[in-house]
Amino acid sequence: MVRDPLLRLEAVSKVFDGGTVGLDNVDLDIGHGEFVSLLGPSGCGKTTSLRLMAGFEQPTSGRVLLDGQDITALRPYDRPLNTVFQDYALFPHMDVAENVGFGLTLRKVSGAEIGRKVKEALDLVGLGDKIHARVSMLSGGQRQRVALARALVCSPRVLLLDEPLSALDANLREQMQIELKRLQARLGTTFVMVTHDQTEALSISDRIVVMNRGKIEQIASPAELYDAPATRFVAHFIGTMNLIEGKALETTGAFHRVAAGPMTLEVPADRGAAPAPGAPVLVCIRPEELSVLASPSDDAVAAQIMSTVFYGPTLRLFVEIGGGQKLMIDTPRRTAVGAFEAGAFVHVRPNRGSGRILSGT
Ligand SMILES: Nc1ncnc2c1ncn2[C@@H]1O[C@H](COP(=O)(O)OP(=O)(O)OP(=O)(O)O)[C@@H](O)[C@H]1O
Ligand SMILES: [Mg+2]
Repeated sequence: MVRDPLLRLEAVSKVFDGGTVGLDNVDLDIGHGEFVSLLGPSGCGKTTSLRLMAGFEQPTSGRVLLDGQDITALRPYDRPLNTVFQDYALFPHMDVAENVGFGLTLRKVSGAEIGRKVKEALDLVGLGDKIHARVSMLSGGQRQRVALARALVCSPRVLLLDEPLSALDANLREQMQIELKRLQARLGTTFVMVTHDQTEALSISDRIVVMNRGKIEQIASPAELYDAPATRFVAHFIGTMNLIEGKALETTGAFHRVAAGPMTLEVPADRGAAPAPGAPVLVCIRPEELSVLASPSDDAVAAQIMSTVFYGPTLRLFVEIGGGQKLMIDTPRRTAVGAFEAGAFVHVRPNRGSGRILSGT
């Protein structure tokens, strides 16, 4: 899929002592200069993947390739990759410059050159004025930057980041996400970041690898993941989705007509083969793809509001339509329909051309 990948996991499996499967036959290509996130629930194999790339872990089977060269047997310090750990792993008794220059000292780089590179790396992360500060005196965000500078100072081909922002509070985290993305774009270095925060992954990645139980569910751009989830897991995991067990009716031109409970949807037929009429399908429709009407309409179904949740600009309605089917609908707070109150009856219409189906699930 990626032409001439920089980093490749080829049929990589990892079974730990005791038999836990960390990774199960994973193929993954990462291109030059890409920002790729590994996203998935706890225990799905994100950190294991990163550690295999870094060389802290050996695969049970399969190979790790960099620029087409097999690096599976290389030790971490012999790989032109660097890692930013979740807890930063800074040395508290050293100052900022010593922390950042540590890797260069190990590599026996000359003192003058270390000084120059450390300054350059600290300027890059906006900490040029903290070069002699003690690490213990720094804020969480500043420590995070020191860890970044330390990882970047050796000019790695790939920067591996394991939940790099998880220790920061929400505001700082958002600011650092933007900085991280800018830094990556400026350097053109390939970044592989582990996160379990989908908002973070969606906002800063070129591509996202969604993982589940040691396997890859889907690799796609943020928009494609959101608009065209390939599996039930991804549909459920990314964003908020109404999942309805439905039935295929027919395919006419650009649309599949499907029954989803009492609703009939015409979903775009631009992806995958047409399901046979009568075949079970999983209908996926986002809360923002449903509209609430005050009065009946041919293409709407009756619904009762069970509860509402206030989200600032929008309101999320939890409604029930015929057959006990529950749906979530996101609607502007002020519409012609009037106030939305629990117990009220409304009419729900799927927006034209919205929704997706997954066959055979
Ligand atoms: N050293 C180890 N020994 C045994 N089992 C391990 C080891 N490291 C990881 N595992 C297991 O492998 C699986 C994948 O772990 P991994 O750390 O890669 O998950 P993760 O996706 O990073 O999760 P989290 O979001 O919680 O950090 C888990 O079931 C975990 O318990
Ligand atoms: Mg982890």
